[in-house]
Amino acid sequence: MKQVGVLLLALGLMGGAWAQVSGPKLYAAHCQSCHQPQGQGLPGAFPPLKEVGRLAEKEPGRAYLIRTVLYGLQGPIQVEGKTYNRVMPPFRQLKDEEVAAILNHILKTLAPSQAKPFTPAEVKAQRAKAFSPQEVARSRPR
Ligand code: HEC
Repeated sequence: MKQVGVLLLALGLMGGAWAQVSGPKLYAAHCQSCHQPQGQGLPGAFPPLKEVGRLAEKEPGRAYLIRTVLYGLQGPIQVEGKTYNRVMPPFRQLKDEEVAAILNHILKTLAPSQAKPFTPAEVKAQRAKAFSPQEVARSRPR
């Protein structure tokens, strides 16, 4: 009986590891269709994610990035010298850990920077507020 218990515990732990949120997988499922596999965007339609690294280095930028994912975005915004005035849909259905994992994937591979990783608690703090996509765009640090 004891062995069965240990076996079930081991299986449970393995299941937990499998269910862990994966930034690359979430990015591929939710973001890549518009922002492209390397975050390069599509000229005139979807901005590149290259400025995410710079934006994530300071507080107003970190809040802006989290809000963009949670509440969506409606420009105009300037990214790498080009103006975008389009609409990004909100992703409120993603969990705090998932939003943090996606942003950390972008920081690690698509827009390398010295910024510290995003935490689920930071996402939670922004979720407790309410912003329109236009307000999010206006809060983008230049
Ligand atoms: C349906 C297309 C679409 C999808 C899917 C999408 N985005 Fe966007 N995203 C946009 C558009 C369009 C903009 C620019 C909006 C504007 O012009 O104001 C944008 C802007 C952004 C910006 C702002 C970049 C900057 O430099 O200010 C970030 C960050 C971002 N998206 C991240 C994401 C992440 C993360 C995901 C996945 C969870 C995602 N996007 C999914 C279309 C999309």
